[in-house]
Amino acid sequence: MSVFLVTGANRGIGLEYCHQLKSRGETVIAVCRENSDELERLDVRVEKVSDLSQQDSISDLISRLKGLEVNTAILNAGINHVMDINHLDAASIRQQFDVNALGPLLLARALMSCMSRGSKLVFMSSRMGSIQDNTSGGEYGYRMSKAALNSAVKSLSIDLKDQGISVGILHPGMVRTRMNLMSNGIPPEEAVGNLLNRIDQLSLETTGTFLHADGTVLPW
Ligand SMILES: NC(=O)c1ccc[n+]([C@@H]2O[C@H](COP(=O)([O-])OP(=O)(O)OC[C@H]3O[C@@H](n4cnc5c(N)ncnc54)[C@H](OP(=O)(O)O)[C@@H]3O)[C@@H](O)[C@H]2O)c1
Repeated sequence: MSVFLVTGANRGIGLEYCHQLKSRGETVIAVCRENSDELERLDVRVEKVSDLSQQDSISDLISRLKGLEVNTAILNAGINHVMDINHLDAASIRQQFDVNALGPLLLARALMSCMSRGSKLVFMSSRMGSIQDNTSGGEYGYRMSKAALNSAVKSLSIDLKDQGISVGILHPGMVRTRMNLMSNGIPPEEAVGNLLNRIDQLSLETTGTFLHADGTVLPW
């Protein structure tokens, strides 16, 4: 039995991670801004935060985890504000950068105090962060923020290798959650089943690889 910490745990992909991990018998620490009925029913440890893009929220969370060993942290919380070139919103782009890229990097650094050799840090990225794979344009803030996340966590994978910590950079596929207005994609159950296979297989040999949940290596 391992200890898994999951952010954005109250709904969508994060909630489904908590569900499947609990079913496997793992210890789950569910981090969220607001609890949900579904998360409450899972009866896992819930740690509330006000905003994971802010250092004070991150420090507050870490102070509550003192003494705990986290084997795998899944940094999943994220936002997507749809935006085309005629409706650029600088404040929204900055917010997506803070929540999707800078926040996870700051949280990862803070979580190092709860990790040791063999631990795993997993980031929920997106294929939309791939520059080479971009054939449809648009989505400025989201694409920029996920490309920045990829860049940061690639560095992290190199920096943490000597400490024996593996870094996963995963695209879940197109998943039917509130982020997609519940309209497109595969159900979270299927996506998280695939993602957990990738996380279970993550090692120092594969650290820092940008992977689709189906196992395909994605281009940067
Ligand atoms: N769905 C897809 O097709 C898809 C595709 C590629 C990548 N992804 C990535 O997968 C991850 C999960 O996506 P999802 O589809 O499950 O999205 P979702 O249903 O919209 O859930 C997003 C989660 O992030 C939390 N969150 C947002 N901003 C936060 C903040 N500042 N501080 C703390 N928590 C915050 C939300 O909490 P609240 O409920 O409090 O707002 C919610 O729990 C995201 O990183 C997303 O970019 C999703």
